[in-house]
Amino acid sequence: MRQMELIAPCHFGLEAVLKREIIDLGYEISCVEDGRVTFIGDEEAIAYSNVFLRTAERVLLKVGQFKATTYDELFEATKAIPWEEYFPEDGKFWVSKAASIKSKLFSPSDIQSIMKKAMVERMKEKYKVSWFEEDGASYPVRVSLLKDVVTVGIDTTGTSLHKRGYRQSQVKAPISETLAASLIMLTPWHKDRILVDPFCGSGTFLIEAAMMAANIAPGMHREFLAQEWKTLCPKKCWYDAMEEAQENINLDLDMDLQGFDIDGDAIKAAKENAARAGVEQLIHFQKRSVSELNHSKKYGFIITNPPYGERLEEKEMLPELYREIGEAYKRLEDWSMYLITSYEDTEKHVGRKADKNRKIYNGMLKTYYYQFLGPKPPRRKPVTN
Ligand SMILES: C[S@@+](CC[C@H](N)C(=O)[O-])C[C@H]1O[C@@H](n2cnc3c(N)ncnc32)[C@H](O)[C@@H]1O
Repeated sequence: MRQMELIAPCHFGLEAVLKREIIDLGYEISCVEDGRVTFIGDEEAIAYSNVFLRTAERVLLKVGQFKATTYDELFEATKAIPWEEYFPEDGKFWVSKAASIKSKLFSPSDIQSIMKKAMVERMKEKYKVSWFEEDGASYPVRVSLLKDVVTVGIDTTGTSLHKRGYRQSQVKAPISETLAASLIMLTPWHKDRILVDPFCGSGTFLIEAAMMAANIAPGMHREFLAQEWKTLCPKKCWYDAMEEAQENINLDLDMDLQGFDIDGDAIKAAKENAARAGVEQLIHFQKRSVSELNHSKKYGFIITNPPYGERLEEKEMLPELYREIGEAYKRLEDWSMYLITSYEDTEKHVGRKADKNRKIYNGMLKTYYYQFLGPKPPRRKPVTN
C-alpha cells in the first residue's frame, strides 16, 4: 500500500500524549514539533487516525514542505506539487487556512490566493482544460509557515476532531474534548480507579474517561471529509475502521465515575451528553456543591476544570471557592487532584503547593495544570492456594 506522511495538529504542550497514541495505533513517528506530530502510514491510516485518535485536532495528508521567502517562490513550489495525484478533475480545492509565524510571507489572504492560482495552473496543464467546475468532493488545503518553511497538507477531517458528536447539550465554558482526553492521559488514572469531577459542567472529563475505559473510539459517531473521496482512502478503509471500533467496545465494566455541579441545568446537559456518547450507565451525575464533596474510599482522582473567573462577579468568589476545593481535598484520604485553570492564585487558596505544574494554552488562554499527587495504592497480593 502507498506510504504517506500525515500531520496531526494538537494542543501546544501536549504533543507527547498524541505521539504515544499514534505509536499505540501502530504508526511510525517522523517528526514532533510544537503543536503537531507527523507520522507515516498507508491509506488505511487516514481512516484509523481520524476514528481512533483522542488527542489530535485533525489529520492532514502532507503534500509538500519547502522554503519560500517571496511570493514567486511560493507560487513555483506550490505548482511543483503533483496536485493531480490527490484531486480528481471535478475536485473542489482551495486553501482553507494559512498561518504564518516568524516568516517573511505573513498575509494569510495573499498566501491563500497565490497558492490557489498555482494549484489551478498545475491542474490546467495536467488535465489540459482551462476551467474547473469544482463540483465534486472537497479538498481543503491547510498551510503553515514557520521561519519561512512552508508545510502544506490536505485536510482529511473536516469539522475538528474535538467535535465527537455527543456534546450537543451545552453549558458555559466547556473544556474541549481533545484537551480533556489529553489531560486525563497525563495522569496515572485508569478504569479501576475512582474518578470525580466536582465541577463537571457538560460532563466532558467523565464522558471522555468512560469512553477510554469502554474502548469507545472518539470518532464512532461522526463523519469525516475524506469519506467523500473516491481515491487516496478507499471506502473499505472507513468500513474496516468503524467495524473494528464497534468490535472493541466493552461496556461490561464496574467503575466509580462521579460528576457534580452546583448548576442543575449543567447536570441535565451532562446526563444527555453521556447518553449520546453511550456511557450513561457508567457515570453517576448529581447536583451538588464542591463544599459537600466527600468519598468513603481512598486513592481516588479528581480531574477538573473549576471556574476561573470568566466574568467579573465570578472573580470575586474565587478565593472562597478555591478554599472550598482545598478543604474538600483535605477530607479525601490519599487522593490525587488535577486542576486546569487560569487562576493564578490557585495554590495560595487551595492551601497547598502543587507537586507538578504545567503551562497549557487553551486557545489563547494561558492555563495551568496543577497536579497534587497522592500515594499509589498498595499492590494487591497475588492469590495463593
Ligand atoms: C469551567 S466550568 C466546567 C466545564 C466542564 N469542564 C465542561 O466541560 O463542561 C465550571 C463549572 O463549575 C460549576 N460551579 C461553580 N461553582 C460551583 C460550586 N461551588 N460547586 C460545584 N460546581 C460549581 C459551574 O456551574 C460550571 O459548570
